[in-house]
This record gives sequence, structure tokens and C-alpha cells, in this order.
Amino acid sequence: MTITIKTAADIEGMRIAGRLASEVLDYLTPHIVPGITTDAIDKLAHDYMVEVQQCIPAPLNYAPPGYAPFPKSICTSINQQICHGIPSDRQLKNGDIVNVDITTIKDGWHGDTSRMFVVGEGSIAAKRLCQMTYDAMWRGIVKVKPGARLGDIGHSIQTFAENNGFSVVREFCGHGIGRKFHEDPQVLHYGRPDTLELLVPGMVFTIEPMVNAGRREIREAGDGWTIVTRDRSLSAQWEHTVLVTETGYEVLTVSAGSPAIPQFVRETATA
Ligand code: MF3
Ligand code: CO
Ligand code: CO
Repeated sequence: MTITIKTAADIEGMRIAGRLASEVLDYLTPHIVPGITTDAIDKLAHDYMVEVQQCIPAPLNYAPPGYAPFPKSICTSINQQICHGIPSDRQLKNGDIVNVDITTIKDGWHGDTSRMFVVGEGSIAAKRLCQMTYDAMWRGIVKVKPGARLGDIGHSIQTFAENNGFSVVREFCGHGIGRKFHEDPQVLHYGRPDTLELLVPGMVFTIEPMVNAGRREIREAGDGWTIVTRDRSLSAQWEHTVLVTETGYEVLTVSAGSPAIPQFVRETATA
């Protein structure tokens, strides 16, 4: 395992890529309404990245070993879809929940972030799942500091999600990120405190928990990419790209429209 440590100049590049990815989500937000197709969201995002931001949508033609090239510029995962949903002519409808996952490449650096959107008026259960998954991501982020270990992050997320009656997907995880989309280490969203890799300043990785309303088991939907819950329960995911600083963490995927940071985070001392 080779974890790259980013220099001050590298970090400056990653801040830009991260902000751009978050700004794509800001731009898309007013468009995520009943009736829009996920293809239309993909086209809005693609054109904004290429023409306005002058960056590269990393998912387009991305082909890890064993996968066919991803055919679109973003991932859109609806309801029981956990992750890697492929935009299509499917229309969003009132009450759907959708994850929109954006990865930019700017000057060779990657920024990776996703948010949940409740389309129109969602059920109490759907809104609770989305909110709790957002908090679960932040329960992981606040553990990031030099001297902590990856297992501290996973344990914090798992404990929070399971204490609220949800389950955590195990087959997909966060990842180191930099000049490559997916680098070492793997960032599991479950685990034991004080285990796994020691965090040191200059590491950059994503935290992107996938939380299911029902059981944690997954299934591949049949298109080679889309992952769904085996029991067809709803699933939510949020993602940030996070830097380990000398004293704690810095979230790199932030922009003017980033959702409010949870109250418990503001009460947790960090830098
Ligand atoms: N953005 C996803 C992640 O958070 C990866 C998507 S790979 C793709 O790691 F090819 F589906 F885009
Ligand atoms: Co990611
Ligand atoms: Co992502």
C-alpha cells in the first residue's frame, strides 16, 4: 500500500478541484425537481464542468479493472440504488431520494463529493435516512487528525448509523485521492477503534458512507455498475474529500452552497 502525502502546492491544487466539484452540486440543486431526467442532470453537470469550470468529469469513460467504461459524467443513485447509478431517461418523481456524485479533475487533481436530494416532498423516513447519513459522514470526519487511525473513522460512522437502526454497506468504501481518482488507502465505514492506518498530515481521502434503511446486503443491478440494496430498502450516501492537517482536518469539497455543518461538529474542537 502506497499512500501519497500531499505537499502544500498539491493541497492548493486539490482545494481548487474540491471546490469545483462542490460548486457543480450547488449549480444542480435548483434543477433537482420532479420530472427532470437523470440524463438531463448529467448534461447540465457535464456542460458546466467542461464549458464553465474547464475541468474534466472524472467518471466519463472511467474503467477500473473488471468494469466497462462508465458511460456518463456523473453518478445518480435513486431510492434503493446505493451508488454508481448511471444517468438515464428515468424521470425523478415526487418523494424520490437521489444521490448525485461529482468528481472533477482540474490541473490533474481530483475532487470527489456527493449529496442527497429529496425530490419534492419526501416521507419522514426518507428525510430521516438522508439527514442521519449526513451526520454519519460528519461523525467520521471529526475523527480525522494526526495520530488517529482509519478504524476510528469507520467505528464512529458504524456506531452512529447502527444506533439509529440503519446498516452500513461494507463492499464499497472511501479512498485516497489525488492525481488518481482512487488511491490507497481504503477508508472503511465500519470497524474498530485504534486499528488500521495511522493518519499523518498531508493525507487526503474521501469519507463517503452508504447507509441502508434495511439490511446491509447489496446486489449489482445488471448494468455492470449500479449497486442496489438486496432487500430493496432505501439507501443514502454523502461524500466529502478530506485533508489531514497538522491539528485535525480540512474538508476540501466545500463551496458557498455546502449544506450546514451539523451542530455536534461545531461543538467539537478542531482546526
Ligand atoms: N465518485 C465515486 C466515488 O465516490 C466513484 C464513481 S466511479 C464511476 O468513489 F465510474 F462510477 F463514476
Ligand atoms: Co469517492
Ligand atoms: Co464520489
